[in-house]
Amino acid sequence: MYKARVGTSLELAQDFLSQGELVAIPTETVYGLAANALEPYAVIKIFEAKNRPQFNPLIVHGDSLESLTSLLKVIPPQAIQLAEAFWPGPLTLLLPRTAKVPDLVTAGSDRVAVRVPGHPLTLSLLASLPFPLAAPSANPFGYISPTRVEHVQEQLGQKIPYILDGGACEIGVESSIVGFDKAGNAELYRSGGISAEAIEAILGAHIPRFLPAKTQKPTSSGQLKSHYAPHTPLILGDLEALLAKHGRKNVGILAFSQALAGIPLARQRILSPSANLAEAAKNLFAAMHELDGQGVDLVLAELVPNTGLGRAINDRLKRAQAKNKA
Ligand code: TXA
Ligand code: MG
Repeated sequence: MYKARVGTSLELAQDFLSQGELVAIPTETVYGLAANALEPYAVIKIFEAKNRPQFNPLIVHGDSLESLTSLLKVIPPQAIQLAEAFWPGPLTLLLPRTAKVPDLVTAGSDRVAVRVPGHPLTLSLLASLPFPLAAPSANPFGYISPTRVEHVQEQLGQKIPYILDGGACEIGVESSIVGFDKAGNAELYRSGGISAEAIEAILGAHIPRFLPAKTQKPTSSGQLKSHYAPHTPLILGDLEALLAKHGRKNVGILAFSQALAGIPLARQRILSPSANLAEAAKNLFAAMHELDGQGVDLVLAELVPNTGLGRAINDRLKRAQAKNKA
């Protein structure tokens, strides 16, 4: 058992990772739980620490497209366009892989997910290492992703030696995942920090959405309906109507831009008082973590406008609700 040290030392992070240990790393989306992507004995520790099933593949992080090319068999022109437009940034590309990538990283799939994260500390770390980093979100399997150091400490602090402290995550929802069909045309697998509209603006074409899968045999765990769930039951709907129905219970409120009358503010979280979707995304998981820690019986939540980043937020809210129904 460990008690994770927390700090900003790139040297310590390098040492642990080079020895095949796990380090939690900040990214602009959420904190990741990183290991040397090329060493199966290191990667296996990720699955152990998260209690994550091994059929669930991992994203490989590098500091540039060039640093990832030896892992990739083919890079379709649209992938290069998207990498140039959005990296470093909250976009993951699913691409045919070479034999250099351990099977454990892709769960045996012939495609690997790759991303250049937009966080200065982690970019420096990646640039200093002779290998890329496999990193899922740094939460136990099925729980909400961490967007602050405290979340990682609470959830995985006893399972890892070091947390690299990069402050609160700027974007707050995971990366968007884009794959390519046989003709090399982009398809969206997970809504995330880059909106479908932004991707379409770069490609000048509509991109088909393959999400969220209703199946429990997803190609991407982000497609599992119950993913990203808090422990406290969460119900979505019109807040006034939900309150009328459930108001006798000890409820917490997760609202988009306005507090609800009649409930103490301490039990409410407002995602963005100015109704800004980027701000709402940034605050979403922290608000869910906080309400989860408040001992309420039930969280009443509302959807946000379903455009741009709002789709990623609504997707996470619906999954949080789905868990309670499962
Ligand atoms: O923003 C993010 O993407 C964060 C930060 C740490 O980079 N990472 C993250 O990782 O959200 P994770 O493991 O929680 O979600 C990655 C998703 C999973 O749904 C996984 O199934 C999918 O990517 N994925 C990874 N490799 C894949 C592959 N080879 N084929 C299909 N899906 C893949
Ligand atoms: Mg995750």
